Amino acid sequence: MKKGKKIYEGKAKIIYSTSDKNLVIQYFKDDATAFNNKKKTTIEGKGVLNNRISEHILSNLSQIGIKNHLVKRLNMREQVIKFVEIIPIEFIVRNVATGSLTKRLGIEDGTVLKEPLIEYCLKDDKLGDPLIAEEHIYAFEWANKKEIEKVKKMIFRINDFMIGMFRGIGIKLIDFKLEFGRLKINGKNEVILADEISPDTCRLWDSITDKKLDKDRFRKDLGDLIPAYTEVAKRLGILHEQSNVSAVNVTKLSSVKKKSK
Ligand code: TMP
Ligand code: ASP
Repeated sequence: MKKGKKIYEGKAKIIYSTSDKNLVIQYFKDDATAFNNKKKTTIEGKGVLNNRISEHILSNLSQIGIKNHLVKRLNMREQVIKFVEIIPIEFIVRNVATGSLTKRLGIEDGTVLKEPLIEYCLKDDKLGDPLIAEEHIYAFEWANKKEIEKVKKMIFRINDFMIGMFRGIGIKLIDFKLEFGRLKINGKNEVILADEISPDTCRLWDSITDKKLDKDRFRKDLGDLIPAYTEVAKRLGILHEQSNVSAVNVTKLSSVKKKSK
């Protein structure tokens, strides 16, 4: 399959066309942004880790019947994915209150929620991805009721699966963000899971120490982001072949791969 032109560049990923109009290549950058691009830097090796972690989670979700855009990982930084029309909503799923929820509503940080809470944000960088109500989605036809009902069912299954998967490796799934896309299958529009699931898009705390193993290390200037993402990858069993992966090793691996292309 031939890699074609860049068709979209986001904050952490680039999408390229391919010779197959139904497939695109998703490239994971090392760029890290927070607070709607107000804070940014480059963290060498982050894209490599997110590519591997997201591949792992999406293929596991596929096995439990959650349809998603992943076709296969191509190399250290790229995946072949199905070309979908992204629904312009960020679906935030929360099991424990932290981050913007605690600031917005004055809820105590770390409050365990009785039921998972879904919040909706409009995907619009210029507006700073504002929080919206479900009614806004229908009023402005960003998605229809049938699509949102389907998405909600998928979200609860994804959440259940991911809570269990992370619990098994000593990690608490605090919250995360999902995106969904439309795909025509046999002339019918289907909604499938898209984007990525990685420590960039989840909050992950060590079960015993509450140590943050996610992008909050960058948002809150805690440092050691690569060791934290590496720890998640290792516990997921992805990096078993390299027992002591460091930022340097991850970077070396990615540049070796680049040269060999
Ligand atoms: P928040 O507490 O900042 O609203 O974030 C909730 C979760 O959603 C957290 O796991 C980070 C993730 N998230 C993204 O992946 N992208 C975003 O643009 C935002 C605002 C949050
Ligand atoms: N993804 C958003 C940004 O890049 C917000 C965040 O993850 O904190 O600014």
